[in-house]
Amino acid sequence: MPPRRPRPATDDGPATDFGPATGTSPTTDGTAQHVAARILAWYDTAERALPWRAPGHGAWGVYVSEVMAQQTQVARVAEVWPAWMQRWPSPAALAASSPAEVVRQWGRLGYPRRALWMHAAATAMVLHHGGQVPRDADALRALPGVGEYTAAAIRAFAFGERVAVLDVNVRRVHARAFFGSGHPAPSVTLAERAHHERFLPADALTAAHLSQAVMEFGAVVCTARAPQCASCPIADSCACLRGGSPTAERRPRKQAVFVGSDRQCRGALMQVLRDA
Ligand code: ADE
Repeated sequence: MPPRRPRPATDDGPATDFGPATGTSPTTDGTAQHVAARILAWYDTAERALPWRAPGHGAWGVYVSEVMAQQTQVARVAEVWPAWMQRWPSPAALAASSPAEVVRQWGRLGYPRRALWMHAAATAMVLHHGGQVPRDADALRALPGVGEYTAAAIRAFAFGERVAVLDVNVRRVHARAFFGSGHPAPSVTLAERAHHERFLPADALTAAHLSQAVMEFGAVVCTARAPQCASCPIADSCACLRGGSPTAERRPRKQAVFVGSDRQCRGALMQVLRDA
């Protein structure tokens, strides 16, 4: 059951009860509340109608969307997710198909080992979790293809748990708004974790909703290359914007060139295998 949407906070006062003050944060709780309230208000009007956000698809729908979105653009995932869910509406349905059928349906989403992981994970759900996506962090992490980010996303978005969901979009928004850097560090730092523990509201459903809102905000407004600072609802408190422009700084790491890469070669091989 997806988390019920809590009433969004407003700028009129501290509408959310923020989490325990552990660790140090580069900002004050007041700034964090202001930023959270503004992003929640923005999300209320700008949320994309992604198919897995509609009610009724449960944790399985969230799990499938998160595995697909690991290395595939969300817009592309939104195109293929409905057919996938129609064919395999539950872990048991997917586990009953052969791995070859699952790889074939995966088509050109890229990194097809994810299809095999999904088949193995669905089988584990049937064998060990009563045919359900597990809720427990360790049980999720034990599934093939589920790392720290994916487990956190499933716990927050499918089960409404209070857990930091640290994808690149969320990390970029926080790097800019609170830490004054244009881009997040290559890997998650202890300071970031402590900051998120403070940032998330104490109420689990509100925290999960805020995590989804910040992720969307990073994907749509506070983007890596073309942030919409001129119309940004948190421009007045963005630490990065105060010091200049978020894009003035070079990104710490660049994606490898695709043409001539192993990735391109693997994709071509997979196409030959699928066609055969
Ligand atoms: N990318 C990965 N998970 C996502 C989600 N739940 N919403 C939007 N973009 C995402």
